[in-house]
Amino acid sequence: VAETPVIVAIDGPSGTGKSSTSKAVAERTGFGYLDTGAQYRAMTWWMLGNGVDIADPAAVAAVADKPVIVSGTDPMAPTITVDGTDVSLPIRGRAVTEAVSAVSAVPEVRALITELQRSIAAHAEAGIVVEGRDIGTTVLPGADVKIFLTASPAVRAARRSAELTGQEAAGVAATQAALARRDAADSGRKASPLAKADDAVEVDTSELTLPQVIECVVTLIEARKRSE
Ligand code: DC
Repeated sequence: VAETPVIVAIDGPSGTGKSSTSKAVAERTGFGYLDTGAQYRAMTWWMLGNGVDIADPAAVAAVADKPVIVSGTDPMAPTITVDGTDVSLPIRGRAVTEAVSAVSAVPEVRALITELQRSIAAHAEAGIVVEGRDIGTTVLPGADVKIFLTASPAVRAARRSAELTGQEAAGVAATQAALARRDAADSGRKASPLAKADDAVEVDTSELTLPQVIECVVTLIEARKRSE
């Protein structure tokens, strides 16, 4: 019998090790990898480049179907393009990071990107690790394994500061404040907010190393496969 692909949803706020964990777990298991935050960032990059007033949800909604966003799912070399342009670098810049919560709160944006995510997951071969904020609750509620990563605010800010380099770098305190603002926006919005699914396993990564978190998630996936 053909095995059905294994869908793994990894949600949580930023600074919890979500991306590093998701990529490594996909490599270990031979699954694909989808960074859904990158898709919201790509949409935001396009809005900023096209002079759309991101403070006006109706203006954002009116053009949300224009950009063609394509995500590659190889965990060793994740790619993202908008209308054929590689945007992997600019979507990590400060302008996009500051604007992305507003754009991702617009229901029309979420509907389009959710559809894209479901279609990518539906075409997975062995399986796919999908990381985001609302994967277990909204995008793929039938996922085989659901993980919700957390970490203390201080640990998250320290990890985020270590990631930022050059002109993007800010002190840990400023980073913690920026994270808190983004969390409040992402958790407080009406359209599928950041939330733990009832059936997700919560993993607090504050006291764990990255290899320990990866091991924990791989173990949960293997346990799930054995129980089938
Ligand atoms: O994971 P990240 O920091 O790249 O995500 C960028 C933003 O996108 C984040 O502030 C919230 C939003 N996002 C979302 O609303 N839903 C998702 N599934 C993933 C990200």
